[in-house]
Amino acid sequence: MKVGFVGWRGMVGSVLMQRMQEENDFQHIEAAHFFTTSSPGKPAPDFGQAASTLLDAHNLDALAQMDIIVTCQGGDYTQAVYQPLRDGGWQGYWIDAASTLRMNDKAVIVLDPVNRDVIDAALAGGGKDFVGGNCTVSLMLMALGGLFQNDLVEWTTSMTYQAASGAGAQNMRELISGMGAIEQQVAAELANPASAILDIDRKVSDFLRSDAYPKAQFGAPLAGSLIPWIDADLGNGQSKEEWKGGVETNKILGRSDKPLVVDGLCVRIGAMRCHSQALTIKLKQDLPLAEIEQLLANANDWVRVVPNEKAVTMAELTPAAVTGTLTVPVGRIRKLGMGGDYISAFTVGDQLLWGAAEPLRRMLRILLK
Ligand code: HSE
Repeated sequence: MKVGFVGWRGMVGSVLMQRMQEENDFQHIEAAHFFTTSSPGKPAPDFGQAASTLLDAHNLDALAQMDIIVTCQGGDYTQAVYQPLRDGGWQGYWIDAASTLRMNDKAVIVLDPVNRDVIDAALAGGGKDFVGGNCTVSLMLMALGGLFQNDLVEWTTSMTYQAASGAGAQNMRELISGMGAIEQQVAAELANPASAILDIDRKVSDFLRSDAYPKAQFGAPLAGSLIPWIDADLGNGQSKEEWKGGVETNKILGRSDKPLVVDGLCVRIGAMRCHSQALTIKLKQDLPLAEIEQLLANANDWVRVVPNEKAVTMAELTPAAVTGTLTVPVGRIRKLGMGGDYISAFTVGDQLLWGAAEPLRRMLRILLK
């Protein structure tokens, strides 16, 4: 199979290339071609394939030579290229990180540890479009697949704590710049143990509200604060990120015709690349906690149930512990005061791995066999 990669140099694309090298995926590709929107003709990267030159990502003829196209280039690129390519008769497989095509009837949202059955049914029916899900949704389903796949959930809320990486590379830089700039404001006072904390706090607060605080990307301070709105305002009180939580969960599970209610508030916090979520889950029955934990732990090879105890939670259920790993821990599982069929859970996952690159990588491997 000839596989074309677009957007392989960006943040998600780079993580994808790294994971493909770790898993020796390139050995399963007959010919890998690298496309660029900026520098066609320049040398292509060498991932153990014969070195070649970069192809023009807007050249439909060149794209149409591919059996599979994997794009992490973003929604504008998909918008510009996908339909003209199909209109020209291209029959290849399109694997996409962007949300543009996600809710198309013909597209499958890929998360094979959770919905391999949906993927296989689509392939058997001639499906060609496979799109990565919203990061928060994919990470929630990796963590709680054991309950969803056994149809034990009546409804759930997800209150999110989303990392800067979900908004992009520039946003990650801005978060760190904000942290550093805050520290600089009060470095002298911090060095003096006798300085008054309320004076330090006042200086920090003044700086957070000032024009000097770096917020060109996020539009509001993130370091030292948080932003309780992610993505577009849908005009009905809901953010687009919150809307995705419901529709994408149901689409991934193949139950858009009898949807579960999944809703909550999405909040940006000052973590680098791990999204966290606090869930309230209304179960269909009052199951013993041990049984719930077992169902969760057995759902896939990456989820890990963290005992609901302080020390292990602080050591293992944080963005700091999880970042850069494929492990998806879920903990803080307990029966809530509302009744035996209500449980809480807290989960953390790397937004660039299971939240973005990994489902695409695995879909490519499914096609390559
Ligand atoms: N929309 C998500 C976020 C990222 O902003 O965190 C990717 O799905």
